This record gives sequence, C-alpha cells and structure tokens, in this order.
Amino acid sequence: MSEAVYGYPPHRLAAAAGPQLSPLTPGSQAIEALPPESLSQLTVLAPPGVQERRYVLAAALRALAPGGTLTALAPKTAGGARLKAELEAFGCAVQECFKAHHRICVAARPDQPEGVDEALAAGGPRQLPDGLWSQPGVFSWDRLDPGTALLLKTLPPLSGKGADLGSGLGILAPALLVSPKVTALTLIDIDRRAVEAARRNVTDPRAQILWADVRSVPLADLDFVVMNPPFHEAGKADASLGAAFIDKASAALRKGGTCWLVANRQLPYEKVLAPRFAAVTLKAQTGLYKVYEARR
Ligand SMILES: C[S@@+](CC[C@H](N)C(=O)[O-])C[C@H]1O[C@@H](n2cnc3c(N)ncnc32)[C@H](O)[C@@H]1O
Repeated sequence: MSEAVYGYPPHRLAAAAGPQLSPLTPGSQAIEALPPESLSQLTVLAPPGVQERRYVLAAALRALAPGGTLTALAPKTAGGARLKAELEAFGCAVQECFKAHHRICVAARPDQPEGVDEALAAGGPRQLPDGLWSQPGVFSWDRLDPGTALLLKTLPPLSGKGADLGSGLGILAPALLVSPKVTALTLIDIDRRAVEAARRNVTDPRAQILWADVRSVPLADLDFVVMNPPFHEAGKADASLGAAFIDKASAALRKGGTCWLVANRQLPYEKVLAPRFAAVTLKAQTGLYKVYEARR
C-alpha cells in the first residue's frame, strides 16, 4: 500500500507524499491508470471544473483500497464549496474543515463507492460532434477559443520546420499541415490529456507531439513557430509564462524565421516581442485579441 498526490496542494494545508499524478506534470503517472485499490492514501488538489473534478475524485476513489484515506481540497471559490457534497454523492462519509480560503475534506474510501464509472465516463476522453478528440479540463475543451479562431483565419501557408508551443488539442496543426511545404511540425503541451487527444487528432507523419514543458524542450533552427500562449499557471493569471514562450520562440527560430502569436489585447506582449525580434507586425485584431507576426 502506498501514498500519492494529485496536483500541488499548499504544504501548510495538507501533508502530501508519494508520486505525482497530475496530468500537468510531464512524466507523472496517470491517476486513471493506477491499479484499482492499490493506494492507502491519496491527497488531491481538486481542479475547478465540475466534470474534471468529479472525474479526478472518481479515479482517486477507484485507486484507493477500501478504508484508504482520501484528502481532497480546493479553494472555496474554485470548487471547494462543492467538494463535500460531491464526495458524499460517491457514498463517502466526509469530515470537512476550512483553512486559508480552502475547504479540506477527509474521507475513508467506502467499500463500494457509488457512481464512479459514471463520473469516469462523464469526464473522460471523448469525440466531440465535429470529430475532434477532447476531454473536460483541457484548454477550451468543448469550443473553439476565439483567439485560436483569429489565428487560424490569419495564418498564411507556412513552409519548412516549425513548432506549435502549447498545442492543446492540436487545433492549429491541420491548418499548418495543409501546406505541402511544411516538412516537420513539433507540437508541445504540458497537459497529458491534451497531448493524448492531439495524438488522435493529428496523425500526419510530419507531426511529432511531445508531453513536455515548452521551457525545457531544446528547439533550434526552426522556420516558424505558432502559438496561443497560456496566461495562467497553476490556475493563476501570469503573463510571465507567455513571455517565457516568446523567449523560447525567439531562441528556437533561425534568422528570418517567423513567430505567429495570438494574444489577449490587454497583455503587454509587444514589449516582450520588440527586443527579441527584428520586425513585429500586427496582422489582425478584434475587440479582444490581436495576432502578431514577429520575424527574427
Ligand atoms: C491558450 S492554450 C492554447 C491551446 C491551443 N494551441 C489552441 O489554440 O487551442 C495554451 C496551452 O498551453 C499549454 N501550456 C501551459 N503551460 C505550458 C508549458 N509550460 N509548456 C507547454 N504547454 C503549456 C496549456 O496546457 C494549453 O493547452
């Protein structure tokens, strides 16, 4: 019997130990792939989305042995307020406490948890009506992000070797790979679920799809980079992550190579782009988004 942890709960709120199970940690084990009834303790920083959270709680209950301890916590305004009722719906007797704006629930895994298979099915990978593979919890999992849509509309046919940084479900790749002049495309995302979906969505042999943190992947001599960079890290708004993506793009491009980027209008990416590229051109804008072409 062993312990494991899903996500990164603040240390002062929960003492967590054992291997990491979060899909946002490259190389971690998948919580849904753990042998049933194999753990004695599991600590879960529960995600904010309802379907995603119920999926994770269900997978946690399946992985725990009867009587094993589940500690689940979440900020009160990001799912915490519903945690206790959700665990009770699985048949758990729950002890709840409040600390530092979090709800912390501790429950012993019942002999026969209820509704586990249903929650796993409701939050698992699925094919959307348009054929795209996706999963609740992945970025914009059931609708095309308007920023991505603007980038798709604006991108010209590209050529040579390229990368999609933060590739999500692989929505940009088919538009890029329509061009026969594209010889190779590397898709990189930190979310295992997105990567698994992208591997189903993008089967062109010119594409390779990596589960990794963009900041740690060696890339060089590329002809183009495309991206709709993240502006959240661990649930918090953080423009510095987008800036790190731009840094990576500039280091990965050959001289004269281009970076195509879409961003929220209010994010100050011009200041990040200007010193790293020879020319930066605004190519499209809406009330909310702007698309830049930045040439090295
Ligand atoms: C705004 S979404 C764009 C997704 C996709 N390109 C699209 O347009 O639909 C940003 C993506 O970056 C991923 N991401 C966030 N941090 C990352 C990191 N450090 N390394 C790689 N991918 C990351 C997220 O998982 C998310 O899929």
